[in-house]
Amino acid sequence: MCGIVAYIGTEKALPILIKGLRRLEYRGYDSAGVAILNKGSLERTRAVGRIDALASALAEKDMAGTMGIAHTRWATHGGVAEENAHPHVDCSGDIAIVHNGIIENYRELKQQLSAGHTFKSQTDTEVLAHLIEANYQGNLREAVQKALQNVRGTYGLVVMHKKEPDRIIAARLGSPLVVGVGEGEYYVASDASPMLAYTQQVIFLDDGELAEITRDDLKIVNLKDEKIIKQTEHIDWNEAEAEKQGFPHFMLKEIFDQPTVIKDAMRGRLIAPDGTAHLGGLSMTSEQMASVKRIILIACGTASYACLAGKYAFERLAGIPTEVAVASEFRYSDPIIDRQTLVFGVSQSGETADTIAALREAKRKGAYVRGIVNVVGSTIARETDGGTYIHAGPELAVASTKAYTNMVTVLLMYALQFGRSRRLTVATGERLVKALLEIPEKMQLVLKQSDVIKQLAEKYKAYSDFLYLGRGINFPVALEGSHKLKEISYIHSEAYPAGEMKHGVNALLSPEFPVVAILTSNALYDKMRSNIEEIRARRAPLIIVATEGDAAARELSDDVVSVPPTMELLEPLINTIPLQLFAYHVATILGRDVDRPRNLAKSVTVE
Ligand code: AGP
Repeated sequence: MCGIVAYIGTEKALPILIKGLRRLEYRGYDSAGVAILNKGSLERTRAVGRIDALASALAEKDMAGTMGIAHTRWATHGGVAEENAHPHVDCSGDIAIVHNGIIENYRELKQQLSAGHTFKSQTDTEVLAHLIEANYQGNLREAVQKALQNVRGTYGLVVMHKKEPDRIIAARLGSPLVVGVGEGEYYVASDASPMLAYTQQVIFLDDGELAEITRDDLKIVNLKDEKIIKQTEHIDWNEAEAEKQGFPHFMLKEIFDQPTVIKDAMRGRLIAPDGTAHLGGLSMTSEQMASVKRIILIACGTASYACLAGKYAFERLAGIPTEVAVASEFRYSDPIIDRQTLVFGVSQSGETADTIAALREAKRKGAYVRGIVNVVGSTIARETDGGTYIHAGPELAVASTKAYTNMVTVLLMYALQFGRSRRLTVATGERLVKALLEIPEKMQLVLKQSDVIKQLAEKYKAYSDFLYLGRGINFPVALEGSHKLKEISYIHSEAYPAGEMKHGVNALLSPEFPVVAILTSNALYDKMRSNIEEIRARRAPLIIVATEGDAAARELSDDVVSVPPTMELLEPLINTIPLQLFAYHVATILGRDVDRPRNLAKSVTVE
């Protein structure tokens, strides 16, 4: 939630900041602002709306300054209004701050400061600006350190002071911040994407750390001013990977990335002759692996649907009882966990606040805690005792697509690794490895049908409710398909296990309620087919995702999308793609902002 960019160097700061904000717009996009130290004065511009609105507001301004901070906002405290947009300033207007996170005791602090300070916004962040002002005695770093000692909550923040034109201060507690290291210049941002055009050398700040950054030097300390030595790391992602590459939207580009990035997820991790996988990041001895009696997969949203598919794999291949826990529930559920429990936190961003908190709780209770994440160096990647990157590359559309399929792939490989260390035969393992290696080509076959699916979207775009149905491994597919449709098209949809229909949901069926059913050739085919017959009898329009060549599916439905066959456990990797495309085309036909749907943000870094 909210994106921060800052620059200090010798180049004009403004274009770097605006370009950086565009990269981070996925984190929040209801208002934006910059503050630049320009010819000795601190100049601030803010605008409600997207980065384009801010860029227009700045178009006529002559900004040559080489140091500045910028922010794109997703409102938490205070409505969407220019006065609530960041950067916020103190009474003098000399101190400017951008902030991501929530200051939980801001009301108390505001009360304490109310005597000598005038507040102009409803935000928690503005309180920080005044708190720093109250502590300022000629040294910005010291003022920030003192101020933050009084703060309860979370922050990733960058501060500058007009009287200290040679430094910016960044601090982190619970909200990510990355420092990019250039030559005679530094960048700070909520993730590495804004700096990839300039440097791939980065330092990830950890909780409790504060960076004092000048043009030539970087010093990292804690709030007690104790020095901290950090390693500079190299990021593999490059700027081109974060571009649309000719696609009209990031989401479509990312859907089409799937055959390529799934290979990245598998590369070097499958051992075909042994019919197994090896994910070195698991960091467990064979004795520790053998001691695992239970697995818990913790995630939110789409990542949790990937986990549901993973649950089937762990139980079938490895025989380990596996639960999927929605992080926001798990963290407050006083979960029963012991040393024989292995917990995976699954997250594209690695910054989802609830998932992080849930993993910390699991760690406190003694479980093995591992991460399955996409963003390199993210909080989950660093706080877990091991884990695996899914290698999906930058995913910028708010609606997750390629991260989902790569999460499922990594979970499958873990299940295979555990399975082969237990009861799974080499023959079954070999079949699974072979089937996984065939997936990229099969994904291509589905993607080729994008135009056909677009015609379906045209036909069904006017309905106001949809129902998605699946059974077994295709129930998580139905959940994910429904989730995609609602988040980017704003059409109401629900997903059910098809066997549940008779227990209530059948009452909703009517010619006004289209059903998307996943009927592929697996062990539950006949059961699913019977459920579809029942729907047919109630005259609901039917779209079926069926295995190619299934004549019965054509007879049963109004419309069919064919998918190539694969092993049952791998079906989510194929069957989800037509549903991603359907949601995408419906949303674009309806003129929705597909990459940045209303009220959402890519990375949910607040509770
Ligand atoms: C995906 O389309 C959603 N935007 C959302 O459900 C997302 O999957 C969820 O917020 C979890 O994010 P994470 O993978 O970064 O933890």
